Amino acid sequence: MIKAITGTKDILPADIPQWRHIESVVLKVMNEFNYKEIRTPVFEQTILFTRGIGESTDIVSKEMYTFLDRSQTSITLKPEMTASVVRAFIEHSLEKKQSLNKFFYISPMFRQERPQAGRLRQFHQFGAEALGSKSPILDAEMIIIPFRILKLLGLKNLSVKINSLGVPQSRENYKKILKEYLKPHLNKLSEDSKKRVNTNILRIFDSKDQKDQEILNNAPLLIEYLDDESLEHFEKVKQALLSAKIPFEVDARLVRGLDYYTHTTFEVISGSVGSQSALCGGGRYDLLVKELGGSETPGVGFAAGIERILLACANEKSLRLNDESLDLFIVNIDKNLSDYAFNVSLFFRENGLSVDLDYLNRSVKAQMREANRQNAKFVLILGGEEFAKGEILLKDMNTSQQVTFLKDELEKVVQKIKSQLDANNLRS
Ligand code: HAM
Repeated sequence: MIKAITGTKDILPADIPQWRHIESVVLKVMNEFNYKEIRTPVFEQTILFTRGIGESTDIVSKEMYTFLDRSQTSITLKPEMTASVVRAFIEHSLEKKQSLNKFFYISPMFRQERPQAGRLRQFHQFGAEALGSKSPILDAEMIIIPFRILKLLGLKNLSVKINSLGVPQSRENYKKILKEYLKPHLNKLSEDSKKRVNTNILRIFDSKDQKDQEILNNAPLLIEYLDDESLEHFEKVKQALLSAKIPFEVDARLVRGLDYYTHTTFEVISGSVGSQSALCGGGRYDLLVKELGGSETPGVGFAAGIERILLACANEKSLRLNDESLDLFIVNIDKNLSDYAFNVSLFFRENGLSVDLDYLNRSVKAQMREANRQNAKFVLILGGEEFAKGEILLKDMNTSQQVTFLKDELEKVVQKIKSQLDANNLRS
């Protein structure tokens, strides 16, 4: 048997209503905040990500799906969207059209991580990027938006962690101070952390190793070494979050796995999903556009993982979706009427109803069973004595009430079904 690649998942018809629901909430909230959708290719030149995300990050050094195509160009399946959005922004000179561009996206991403619950190799993110403003209000907006979306999905067990990485100068100074602090402990650090001292020292804070964490307990923190401008920016972000009534905590040890951040970084964490608990992450990246060849343009954004959100929704039983059952099933008593039944189904479908009928020459009993299995709201019965008299029978499956119509009164049948569906919607 040929199976799907490890770490990828089929999204089967039974899962689709939940995906559609999340997507519709994302569209609604992005519209409320006036973000415009952007779609970029699934693959890009590898250099976009190595330069954008950073050579020493886990994503670039271990996780990217990179290959040479037939013309020997190095291609990478996108592991995240920020670099791609920035590339598109620069390539199409979008800053000339308006001074602030607010984008959103929903897209698959690819990272060759070790699969586990909430960690896949093809996963899906929705997110937003705002390019062109340094306003701390936008940093707050990037937390308010996902928080609102997660609340609308019924999630409760959420917390928001924020931190500031300041400007590169203060971060570089701090890295030296941290290195100095770690010097006497080098031998006791885990192998991974030892390597990180020279490659990506801030990520040491992400270590799960008990001994590393003990050593880090007394380590100096970046936030204590920030310049005044960065501190002032961070204060304003906090104020904006307070006035938006977003509960948050400052976590001075929050480091993110991508190199492009300046100033604010944040994560929205769920207490309902086990170890892969970050539903959303993001931050400000004021240097990335320039780094990727554009003019100096500040940026800020977030991305949230849909599979992790679905896991949280399942664990909190938060998604109660209206059932998407069929409006009408056509039961055909007389096999000779199958062409007629099909034409009738087309008429109802053109009138906006979701309709199905028997394609398997089943008995009447089996057709009724199928209508029940599909939760059809109405059944239309064609054939038998009524049909011989020029009549058809509509059965409301909810009330079991049956109404007779003339064969050529199909419009009346549509009206009857629609008015009943509307009435039911009003009631629920
Ligand atoms: P990230 O933290 O790498 O940030 O990913 C954002 C979210 O994507 C995570 O919080 C998680 O929910 C989900 N995610 C990441 N990796 C996986 C995986 N292997 N399986 C399932 N879900 C995953 C970024 O991607 C940045 N581009 C965010 C950003 C936008 N920063 C600024 N703008």
